[in-house]
This record gives sequence, structure tokens and C-alpha cells, in this order.
Amino acid sequence: MEKIVVKGVKQLKGEVDISSAKNSILPIIAATILCPEPIIIENAPRLEDVEVICRLLSELNCDVDISDISNKLIIDTKNMVEMDANEELMRKMRASFLIMGPMLARFGYCKLSLPGGCNIGSRPIDLHLKGFKLLGAEVKTDHGFVEVKAKKMVGSRIYLDFPSVGATENIIMASIFIDGVTIIENAAEEPEIWDLAQFLNKMGAKIEGAGFGKITITGVRSLKGTVYTPIYDRIEAGTFMIAAAITNSKIKINGINEEHLRPIIEKLKECGVNFSDYKNNSIIVDGTGTKNPVDIKTLPYPGFPTDMQAQMMSLLSVVKGVSVITETVFENRFMHVAELLRMGANIKIDGRTAIIEGIEKLTGCEVKATDLRAGAAMILSGLSAEGQTEISDIYHIDRGYVNIEEKFRRLGAEIYRVTV
Ligand code: EPZ
Repeated sequence: MEKIVVKGVKQLKGEVDISSAKNSILPIIAATILCPEPIIIENAPRLEDVEVICRLLSELNCDVDISDISNKLIIDTKNMVEMDANEELMRKMRASFLIMGPMLARFGYCKLSLPGGCNIGSRPIDLHLKGFKLLGAEVKTDHGFVEVKAKKMVGSRIYLDFPSVGATENIIMASIFIDGVTIIENAAEEPEIWDLAQFLNKMGAKIEGAGFGKITITGVRSLKGTVYTPIYDRIEAGTFMIAAAITNSKIKINGINEEHLRPIIEKLKECGVNFSDYKNNSIIVDGTGTKNPVDIKTLPYPGFPTDMQAQMMSLLSVVKGVSVITETVFENRFMHVAELLRMGANIKIDGRTAIIEGIEKLTGCEVKATDLRAGAAMILSGLSAEGQTEISDIYHIDRGYVNIEEKFRRLGAEIYRVTV
């Protein structure tokens, strides 16, 4: 089993390069199913989740080539066959469910294992299936599988009860070739939705309004191959911003889109972190000043992202005063609290609200990564804690951060991966 070991207390210095967004690349890879011509995705980091969805496409007879050197991903789905996707892989990563929309659009049929839940919540797919039904598909769920089929799909107006990222993406992809117009109302507005639409439009799709609450898709007959570079990972960038804050350091972060990071930057400014020199997709983050307690409510974009909640809790655990975090997006995303309590944090949970009383110093100990972002939060806590922190279950972290310990080491952190 592998662990990440972090030695605190360490100040950071220098600069870090942010990778492309995991939550863009996954739907973009799924969307290659819509185009039987070679597609090149540049700067695609070697993340566990990227490997899983690429393995899934290979199982469906697609040619997938991940070149190590330039992080270039070449995908050709020309010879793709429709068949039941590998249940084990499906369960390994929920985002694999994003192949259902494009498979339905291309083959008029798809049968997948139900994605199941994960540590942070039950992760239902009712909004995905509602969209498919309104587009004219027949949906059947039994024995742990969901099957969709449609001879002819029709453009439709689909209102999402919740601005679900995955449902918005799946419905956009399912409607690409439908004659007429499909409208998604109360759509997710995350930058990764905009990125997926940019990618599809570059291949000849007609999508308007992506990144806003109402998206209009006008059907086209086919898509052409292209070369595409996804946006930077705003959650990875936010994680390193908090690293500067929690270690009272000043660092430069390369790979920033300030607009995508607005909710995170504004909240960190309120907490006492300073930002300067935003140019050429880089920014200086100065976390050396006094920090103030802040209140956070996670919301769909452009609200404060749920994927930054655990990392902020690590920071606020060592900020003098009382901070309050309310998690409104997922029903069980406080698993990292128990791990922070082991490090000496003073946190009380009341339903979806956590009340954090900041303490002087956390102390290092053995902790678990309970989900992808909680794992990153444990690294942040370890950087600022007295002594050594050993993080297990780090497979969670590898799903969404590429070479995270390498990136922190380059900033001067004492962090390494061990096999035990
Ligand atoms: C995406 O998950 C991200 N994953 C998540 O990032 C992120 O936390 C989430 O969006 C919210 O921003 C990827 O993009 C691969 P949702 P997704 O559908 O699409 C409810 C990370 O750490 N819901 O917007 O699964 C659901 O229960 C991961 O990188 C329904 O009720 O998120 C949840 O409460 C974690 N019915 C809320 O919506 C549905 O049919 C948000 O889910 C679908 C969702």
C-alpha cells in the first residue's frame, strides 16, 4: 500500500504549474465517441481517472494513444462497437457514466452498469435519465444496469431541478445530432461545461449559452476531428492557493484563469490572502499576512465550489476565531472532519454545517484520504502541522492530482510517497 508522508512546518517558495482540468478532460474524452475521426487532446495529464475512461474506450474497440512525453492523447473512435461497458471500470469511476449520452447519440443504444455512489454522496442519475427520456429515449433500469435506446430522438426543452454538471454534459452530448433544437434550462454553469461546448463546437456542433443557465443545442449531421487543449484545473489552482495561505508563504501559480477562480480568490481575500501580478495566466499568491475566520456556503458555479470545501476547512482549522462551512451540494462531504480532529482540530458538525474554532497548530499523525479533495486537504494540513503526517488511501488523490507530491516538493515541501 502507498502512503504520502508530509513533514511540517514548512514555508513554500517558488512557482507551480497547474495541469489541465480533470473535470474538463473526462467529458471531452467521452465526447470523442461523437466523432469517428482522429482527435488530439493536448496537455492531458496522466491521471488515474483519465486512464480509466481511456481503458473503457479501448474496451469498446477505440484506438487510444496516451503519449507519455507530451501528455498528448490521440483518440480514434472510428471502429467503436456498442456493447455493455466493463462493469468493474464503470464502478471505478462515476464519470464513466458520461459515455451514455454520446453512445445514445451515435448508436441509438447504450447499456451501462449503474455508477453507484461514493463516499461523498449517493450520486443519483435521475436528471440524466429525465433528459434522455425527454429526448425520446426509452430508459430501463434493472439488475444494477441502465439501458437507453431510441430509434428517433426529438429536440426538447429540459429543465434540470438541480444544475447538475454531469446531467448537463450528458444531455448536451445526447442531443448533438438531433434534428431541431434542444434547450437545457437551469443548466450547470461550471467552466468545464463551457470547455466541453468549445470542444464540440470546434468539431462543428452548434451549442450556444454554455457556461450560463440556459443552453441551446441545434442538431448537426456530423462532427469533424480536431486538436484541443482543455482549460486549466481551477480546483488544483485553488488547492495551491490554500497551500500558500496555510504555510504563510508567497508563491507564483502558473495556469490561472482568474474568472474561473473568482469565488475562491474572493473568499481567500476575505480571509487575508493577497493576490497580485495576474498576467499571462499566472498570479502571485501572498499568504504571509494574518488570516481571518470566514463563513462559506458551497454552491453550484459561480458560487464557492464544493470541490474546495475540504481544503478550506484545513486552512480554517488553524485560523484564530470561529468559521462556519455549509455544504449544500453533496449530502456527505464532511468525512475529512474526523481526520482533522485526529490532528487536533476543533470542529463540530451540525447536519450540513461545520463550525470550526481555529487552533494555534495542528499536530501530524496517521490520517486517511476519504475522497479526492479530502486527500488534498490532508496534505495541506500536514504542511502546516507540527511533526509528520502519514496519509493512506492516496489512490483517491491520484484520481485528480498529477504528481502532487512532486509539485509540492518543487515548492520546498518535505513530502514523499512511500510503499508500506
Ligand atoms: C461533477 O460531479 C464533478 N465531477 C465533481 O467533482 C463536482 O464535485 C460536482 O460536479 C459538482 O460541482 C466531474 O466533473 C467528473 P452533479 P457530478 O451532477 O456531475 C445531484 C471532484 O472532486 N444530482 O453536479 O456528479 C447530486 O446528488 C469531483 O473532482 C441529482 O440529484 O455532480 C449532487 O447532490 C467530486 N441527480 C448534486 O446534484 C442527478 O441526476 C451535484 O451533482 C445528478 C446529480
